[in-house]
Amino acid sequence: MKKIAILSGDGIGPEVMVQALKVLNAISQIYGTEFKFFDALIGGAAWDEYRDHFPDETRRICNEADAILFGSVGGPVGSDEEKWRNCEVNSILALRKAFNFNVNLRPVKTHEDLPCVLKDPGDVDILCVRELAGGIYFGTHEINDGVARDVMEYSSSEIESISRVAFEFAMKRAKKVTSIDKANVLACGRLWREVVTRVAKDFPDVEYEHMLVDNAAMQIMKNPSRFDTLLMPNMFGDIISDELSVLAGSLGMLPSASINTEGFGLYEPSGGSAQDIAGKDIANPIGMILSGAMMLRYSFNMDKEYEAIMKAVDSALRDGYRTADIADGKVVSTSVMGDVIAKAISNF
Ligand code: IPM
Ligand code: MG
Repeated sequence: MKKIAILSGDGIGPEVMVQALKVLNAISQIYGTEFKFFDALIGGAAWDEYRDHFPDETRRICNEADAILFGSVGGPVGSDEEKWRNCEVNSILALRKAFNFNVNLRPVKTHEDLPCVLKDPGDVDILCVRELAGGIYFGTHEINDGVARDVMEYSSSEIESISRVAFEFAMKRAKKVTSIDKANVLACGRLWREVVTRVAKDFPDVEYEHMLVDNAAMQIMKNPSRFDTLLMPNMFGDIISDELSVLAGSLGMLPSASINTEGFGLYEPSGGSAQDIAGKDIANPIGMILSGAMMLRYSFNMDKEYEAIMKAVDSALRDGYRTADIADGKVVSTSVMGDVIAKAISNF
């Protein structure tokens, strides 16, 4: 029996989470795997109850779980309500820090049934490996007397750890790593390059290259299919993964896995709380559903259950089901998309 902490959070988080749970329940029925779900509050939803974005009770539930499924957090863009002030930093970033989730995996694929804004993206299969527990997001952030300061810091060991993960994944893929930095300006970038070069020596079968982030942002759109595994510091991985979502059709399609060195994981869609469309039953639940699939694979080693979800999502898309963000076929609601995918599980 697997215990899963369910942190639905804010905005579209709860409605897409419901769809992921439908799909996991379908898996449970067909494969006989037993899941037990434990709801916990996070973000603005936790603030309403505890005046705390990441309450102790949530921490306890996460501690006792075998994995965490996470929806999204945060309020309307630009809101200065106390509830939303520092909400992301105090909830999802604090959670990443609390469990030291330093590895963030964001797979991106073009889908033959989905149109892409690029004319001819080719066959894209990219794995973003983003460092998630360090860098500028975790340095001090302050504004004093009209001067703002954000500190970026990386140690060799942090860089080495994420680099090894990227090269190990590349070994199981097309054996190509592109490490992205800003070594022409930042000291962190220079150290990043030095450490990656050292780690690469242990993986002679992997072809690797360094690329400056500004150039990478351009090359990825120009010729996305030349890339395989992208190794990135926290901030660049955040930005480049949003850029890559265009190739998958929509940010709502992208799942992610955040894993620590003990193998404990948190699974969340790569996109945010999308408050502008929240509560309307129009959000795309696929990124959340695929995050559940990644949980089965990376936390529970349930490969055939993982495959069943991947195939169920593909079949829903092949049959023309579309949420509004990827619409060119039958536009369906969040909940219908969840139903269609959950029902398709029994075919695989
Ligand atoms: C992501 C999100 C978060 C991040 C935000 C919500 C803090 O954009 O997971 O990509 O920047 O890491
Ligand atoms: Mg982001």
